[in-house]
Parts: sequence; C-alpha cells; structure tokens
Amino acid sequence: MQIDFKDKIAVITGASRGIGAAIAEAFYQNGAKVALLDINVKECQERALAIDASGSNVIALQADVTDEIQVKKAVDQILERFERIDILVNNAGVLHHVPIEEKTVADFEKIIKVNLTGVFIMSRAIVPIMKKIGRGKIVNISSLGARTGRPGVAVDYAASKAGTLGITRSLAKELGPSGIYVNAIAPGPILTELTKQVPKEVFATWNVGRVINKDGLPEDVANAVLFLSSQLSDWITGITLDVNGGLFIP
Ligand SMILES: NC(=O)c1ccc[n+]([C@@H]2O[C@H](COP(=O)([O-])OP(=O)(O)OC[C@H]3O[C@@H](n4cnc5c(N)ncnc54)[C@H](O)[C@@H]3O)[C@@H](O)[C@H]2O)c1
Repeated sequence: MQIDFKDKIAVITGASRGIGAAIAEAFYQNGAKVALLDINVKECQERALAIDASGSNVIALQADVTDEIQVKKAVDQILERFERIDILVNNAGVLHHVPIEEKTVADFEKIIKVNLTGVFIMSRAIVPIMKKIGRGKIVNISSLGARTGRPGVAVDYAASKAGTLGITRSLAKELGPSGIYVNAIAPGPILTELTKQVPKEVFATWNVGRVINKDGLPEDVANAVLFLSSQLSDWITGITLDVNGGLFIP
C-alpha cells in the first residue's frame, strides 16, 4: 500500500515555517490539498506560494489558534474552498526558554494557551466536520520534553506538551467510534526558529545520548505525520510516536 493523499484536505497550524512548513510541503508533495494556518499571515501566504505557485491546491489563512473567532473563520474559508477536512495537524507552538524564577504567571499562561488550549480550540472546530464524513485523522505535535522534562524549558512548555498527550489519548477514545484517529508525535530537538532562542551549548546537550548519528530535521517529523495521517496507520490511535534518533528509549 502506498501513501496517497489524493482528494484529501489537510489543515496544518503554525505552517509558516519550521516543522509546520515541512509538514505542509510533504502533504502537498503527496497529493493533498493543504490549508496553511498561522498567526503570521504574510509569512504564511509566502510559504503557501513557495509550495504551490499556482495556488490551486493550497490556501493560506490567518488563524491564531487561541482565538475561537479567527479559527472558526478560517475553518469556514477552508470548507468554502475545499468542501471538507480530512486531516488536522496541531503543530503551532511556542517556547519561552528561561529559568522558573524569571517566568511570570502571564508567561506561563501564554505558553499553555497556545500549546494546549490551541489544540482544544482547533480540534473542537474540526471534529464535527470529520464526524459528518465519518472519518478523520488528527495528529498533535507534542515534544520529547513532555516525556523526559527538560531544564530551562520550564514547567509551562513541558506541561503543555504533556497535556497534549492527555488530549490525544482522551480524544482517541472519544472519537475512535466515529472513525476519527488521534495520535501524537514527540519530536526530539530540531533546529528551527523556535529552538534558536536556546543557547547553542544548551541545545547541544539536548542531543546527548542520541543513538542515531544524524541531526533531526523538520522533514523527519513531517514523514512521521504523513504516516499517522495515512491509511498505513489505520489500526493505530492514541499513541505517541517518538521521533528523536533514539534519544528516548524507555
Ligand atoms: N524545534 C524543536 O526542537 C521541537 C521539538 C519538539 C516539538 N516541537 C514542536 O513542534 C511545533 C513546531 O515547532 P517549530 O520548531 O517548527 O517552531 P517555529 O517557531 O519555527 O514555528 C512555529 C510556528 O507556529 C506559529 N504560531 C505561533 N503561535 C501561534 C498561534 N497562536 N497561532 C497560530 N500559529 C502560531 C508561528 O508563527 C510559527 O510559524 C511546536 O508545537 C513545537 O513545540 C518543536
């Protein structure tokens, strides 16, 4: 069986750059029509055009995942253009790399809001559409930090990403009978704008213990997303797929 997303509509949040952009590109290359959502609409539009210059199989939309109104508007626009949604990848995320003493409650709440509440808001907006079709795949991008903890990533990021695993498992049980699969991916360190704020010497320590001699790339995460969004994973739901070159082998 081959991965084939022909006639499938995939929605990716935080798709302007980094891992989200690689996921959007991978879906497009494998035949899907792709909706790129991001808080940063200009970058998102540029990314969409870089993927499909004709613009016929991509749409770029502004959607802050924490804003229910923007999310509803974006979902309505996707339906208007492509008429259905088959795949949702909850990828948008933020990191604030400081020690706990330097973090305010507002800082903490912002991370939780984007990384965790955003997953809830997006899923709630799209699940009814998938239920109508009788099938759907949701992939939530968590993090290795949720599994292992990580100094400096602090309580908020690790907590939000661990919460994402809780949402994944609960929704998998709730939505499985409706034909909707919900899985998570926990990537190890990937050099993107997000991790550029982490001092180089600290980032290097995040790879200590890796057993595969290769740096993680956004494409490595995208490939795992394709698998969990395809018919090749039709007996898999509620799991966390570790994508980290063997950094975490329980
Ligand atoms: N880079 C890593 O090492 C790594 C490791 C594990 C997990 N992750 C997760 O992967 C995902 C993507 O990370 P990345 O490294 O590509 O980051 P990135 O900063 O390069 O990209 C994140 C994207 O999300 C968008 N975004 C931020 N807040 C948003 C909001 N409220 N609504 C909509 N879009 C928003 C940004 O504009 C940006 O385009 C995140 O969830 C991150 O936590 C990253």
